[in-house]
Amino acid sequence: MLDLLPTVLAASTVKSVGAVIAAIVTIGFIWYVVVNIRAGRAEVASEIELAPNRKPYYDDEGLEGPRLDGALRWAVMMLAVSAIGLPLYWLAEPSRQEGAIEQFDRTFVGRGARLFAPTEDGGYNCAGCHGPEGVGGAAPDFTLLDAEGEFDATMDWQAPALNTVLLRFSEDEVREVLVYGRPGTPMPAWGTEGGGPLTTQQIDELIAYLDSIQITSEDAKELAEKTLREELALAEDAEIDYADPAVGEAIFNLGLPSGTAGGAFSCARCHTKGASLVDGSQDPEFAELSEHRGFPDGSGAFGFSLRYPLIPRQFLSAEDLLEFLRKGSVENLLYGQRGVGSGRMPGFGDNPNTLEPVDDGMFTEEMLQAVAVYVANLHLDGQGDTAPAAGGTPAVPPAVTLSDVTTTTTTAAPTTAEES
Ligand code: HEC
Ligand code: HEC
Repeated sequence: MLDLLPTVLAASTVKSVGAVIAAIVTIGFIWYVVVNIRAGRAEVASEIELAPNRKPYYDDEGLEGPRLDGALRWAVMMLAVSAIGLPLYWLAEPSRQEGAIEQFDRTFVGRGARLFAPTEDGGYNCAGCHGPEGVGGAAPDFTLLDAEGEFDATMDWQAPALNTVLLRFSEDEVREVLVYGRPGTPMPAWGTEGGGPLTTQQIDELIAYLDSIQITSEDAKELAEKTLREELALAEDAEIDYADPAVGEAIFNLGLPSGTAGGAFSCARCHTKGASLVDGSQDPEFAELSEHRGFPDGSGAFGFSLRYPLIPRQFLSAEDLLEFLRKGSVENLLYGQRGVGSGRMPGFGDNPNTLEPVDDGMFTEEMLQAVAVYVANLHLDGQGDTAPAAGGTPAVPPAVTLSDVTTTTTTAAPTTAEES
């Protein structure tokens, strides 16, 4: 409020200066008119004899002949100019406006591209993590901290492709991620409200740029299927057996093993802790990182755990679950039995930026069905929420007891229990 004051004051100063000028002009004008009327009054006896300093005006013939014709010719010419010019103006106006909008869009996209570009090209280096033109990549050297907040390791973290981001999220949902980032991941907050460096307009410019690099739903589905075949080690034209649970599992983790599209097609990047960490199995320290990786599929991270039976806890039927995966969540809209959406769960089968409820998302219907069945059965695989991943490093945390919250064994900040 307070910093608005100078603006308001400035506005009223401008207004009062304007009022004074208007008053001076009005009074001056009235004065001018009055003086002219008085000065223009005919002098006494002026009609009898012309004063020596005056010359006779045109006679009647001259006035009503060539002079009148001349004036009328000019009038017709001016009328013609208005009659032709105005329709021409109206005809050209819509395309002029369209052109202006296009020009505006191009300017926005161009500025967004510059913001997206690497630092050495004057940008904020979205491309450094998300790949050039947002094809997906990895954020280098993300620092993992242990329970005491101390350094554990640095690992690369896959950064999802953004050339499909508007197939799964609405523009507002993307804006939310840009402004506030994804805490706990390498994705920083960029908007002023989130503590970042970019203005609202720059965020809009980035979204305009993202919009300009989106691939089509068909291309996205093709890439998803191609990646699925590669990760299942199938031939390029082999049939995919969607009834096979291994296929559902591969879709749940799609792209994460190979790094395709930075894992943008996967569920695991949000629903399994550590899933986005780039496999560092060459590194001897990698095996030690059981606090950060090796969790069973869908045991929860940014998105909830999917291991408490989804049906009937949240969804009454498999169709309800499928419908949810197709559209994703919308902020403050209810889903399932007790769900309140945050807009953070993407839609995989329906582009939320188009109104028609058609199959224009990233996944084919078969892929959606297979992954729905896979997640609906996750609680049956015997891995629970705390069991180790098959073949992975045991990730079983010791049972938490009351003593874990009543004593402090570290020099970390005092716990609330200690304070009370
Ligand atoms: C330091 C690396 C890094 C930089 C720089 C970065 N991002 Fe990200 N971004 C990430 C990672 C990693 C994620 C995924 C986080 C996760 O696992 O949930 C992400 C997620 C996103 C998402 C959500 C996508 C989705 O499908 O979940 C958007 C949108 C996004 N970033 C846009 C941008 C834009 C625009 C910029 C530049 C202004 C940018 N990012 C800069 C690393 C980065
Ligand atoms: C970008 C992160 C993200 C991705 C990717 C993602 N989810 Fe989610 N998911 C969420 C969040 C966050 C929620 C919680 C609902 C909300 O906040 O709107 C959620 C909720 C869910 C729920 C409802 C759980 C409940 O108990 O209410 C299911 C089921 C689900 N996701 C399945 C999936 C599947 C299957 C995939 C892959 C096809 C997937 N998710 C991909 C973030 C994600």
